[in-house]
Amino acid sequence: MRSSITKERNYKKQVLVCCGVNCLTSGNDIILDKFQSRMKEMRLDNEINVTKTGCFGFCARGPIVEILPDKIFYTEITLDDVDKIIDKHLLKNQEIEELLYTNPLTKEKISKPKNMDFYKKQKKIALRNCGIIDPENIDDYVLADGYTALDKALKMTPEEVVEIIKKSGLRGRGGAGFPTGKKWEIALHNKAPKKYVVCNADEGDPGAFMDRSILEGDPHSIVEAMAVCGYAIGAEYGLVYIRAEYPNAMKILAKAIKDAKNHGFLGKNIYNTNFNFDIQLKYGAGAFVCGEETALIRSMQGKRGEPVNKPPFPAERGYKNSPTNVNNVETLANIPVIIKKGAEWFRSFGTENSPGTKVFALAGKINNTGLIEVPMGTTLREIIYEIGGGIKNGKKFKAVQTGGPSGGCLTMDDLDTPIDFDNLVAKGSMMGSGGMIIMDEDNCMPAVAKFYLDFTVDESCGKCTPCRIGNKRLLEILKRITDGEGTEDDLDTLKELSLIIKDSALCGLGQTAPNPVLSTLEKFWDEYVAHVRDKKCPSGQCKALIKYVINNKCIGCTLCARICPESCITGSPKQRHYIDAEKCIKCGSCYEACKFHAINRD
Ligand SMILES: Cc1cc2nc3c(=O)[nH]c(=O)nc-3n(C[C@H](O)[C@H](O)[C@H](O)COP(=O)(O)O)c2cc1C
Ligand code: SF4
Ligand code: SF4
Ligand code: SF4
Ligand code: FES
Repeated sequence: MRSSITKERNYKKQVLVCCGVNCLTSGNDIILDKFQSRMKEMRLDNEINVTKTGCFGFCARGPIVEILPDKIFYTEITLDDVDKIIDKHLLKNQEIEELLYTNPLTKEKISKPKNMDFYKKQKKIALRNCGIIDPENIDDYVLADGYTALDKALKMTPEEVVEIIKKSGLRGRGGAGFPTGKKWEIALHNKAPKKYVVCNADEGDPGAFMDRSILEGDPHSIVEAMAVCGYAIGAEYGLVYIRAEYPNAMKILAKAIKDAKNHGFLGKNIYNTNFNFDIQLKYGAGAFVCGEETALIRSMQGKRGEPVNKPPFPAERGYKNSPTNVNNVETLANIPVIIKKGAEWFRSFGTENSPGTKVFALAGKINNTGLIEVPMGTTLREIIYEIGGGIKNGKKFKAVQTGGPSGGCLTMDDLDTPIDFDNLVAKGSMMGSGGMIIMDEDNCMPAVAKFYLDFTVDESCGKCTPCRIGNKRLLEILKRITDGEGTEDDLDTLKELSLIIKDSALCGLGQTAPNPVLSTLEKFWDEYVAHVRDKKCPSGQCKALIKYVINNKCIGCTLCARICPESCITGSPKQRHYIDAEKCIKCGSCYEACKFHAINRD
């Protein structure tokens, strides 16, 4: 099959058009259409192939297209640029300088991704095919060595397959970092007549889109991994729990499953062995708590998505009371390549206790927002300043929240920490699913804690009291503090209550919800004190605590008075202006607009 596909693939050039979620929202679907229809009109579609791919990672510079075999990357392109790329590059082999990425520091134009700081330190294992193959074309996956891991696994015993995963040291990428091989071993040794493989594609963390990007960019790697897992643990049924808020991923995955069946990679007697495996999709309504494995299993059975006590763990009693192996999308994406290249190869990346790589979604006040994959052990400084291109608008780095609502923040002092599961926990945060929200000097840390807690309180299933009531009380206290009504006693209560909730909530959602509170209290204590004792918000974000005052640098240019929505700035031209504090709604427009630093935000 592989050789017949290769024969059909003798294109002179290939145009890879990123159709990941960010590029699509910036119009890459119409760019793709235009490339395809122009190629047809010009009768070039046999020589120049236009491929729709998943996310390239460098979302901040989207829409992106890459031209192969030249490996030239064009960023921030528009519909009008399509003809330019066809006429100049595809027909005349000329690079189009103005569409190349410009290094913001050196102003140098860079044409190849391998020379861009954003890509230099990355190592793509889970994302190996994203942005390279057409996710909706099974031939593309097969040409990228797809389904050879399944073939290889089926020639081994299940015990041997489990042993490779154990030796690789792969740890679950869904948050807790449990060793995947160990989990598979427990399921393998369970001699129940029916077992299930579940892929957790719920991905509810705010700011996280790594699982979605894998499903949209390389769905067959998940199908293949689930089949390998099924063989290893002795399961014939796989289920993907995917949130219905990901319609594109659902569509792409459903097609991948259908195509895999048609090609004999799923179904009966796979690769002429007596191994049978089938996959079904289950749709989640988009509740964060449904990502927790016991809630997820209940939800798949049509029950309320509420967590239940563990043990029994899903590997003992899960879906339909049968042993169930639940793995995260990114965890599974690593499986085929580990089977193919071996445990030692995988262990050659990362750290002793956290081998391999980790995908992070960089968001917040960072220049290069997007999706990155780095070896475990890469430092935060490398991620933020080299790959991420530093903080937006030349502002100062203040903190980075890792692990989403379950995690905590790291500060300047942690920048040289090599990131892995254990180091993050030791620093008071956690890996979580890999969301990384970067904050600058303008972020107010009690407000950050309030933001995360607001999310978890909203998403709590309400089953147990510490989470339902305790987290709500925490949120009320944080609201008081950011409204300027907090007291020093509130700070003690925040800490005490957080520790009680962590100890007593039933599931991971409630147990980790106070983490952002504890972490910001520990690392930004002075900022909390400033709010409750001095009634000031040092970063100038809490409206109730700030006041705009015009100082004597004012030259009376009148700009602020003209833009103030409340008309509460008065003064004659060339004279110092004044703000009527009673009428001011603290929108900050005047502060942002004044070019003479004549407005103080106290
Ligand atoms: C509130 C909560 C939400 C979770 N959401 C997800 C999720 O969206 N995706 C995921 O893979 N794991 C999620 N988990 C972790 C799962 O319970 C489970 O540990 C994981 O899917 C196991 O896969 P892994 O071993 O491959 O990481 C969540 C846990 C909690 C407590
Ligand atoms: S901790 Fe929260 S989300 Fe978990 S069971 Fe209790 S109420 Fe539900
Ligand atoms: S914009 Fe600044 S300088 Fe101009 S009037 Fe307002 S405060 Fe004065
Ligand atoms: S903060 Fe907004 S409302 Fe207040 S004076 Fe400035 S522009 Fe007017
Ligand atoms: S969506 Fe295009 S680079 Fe991420």
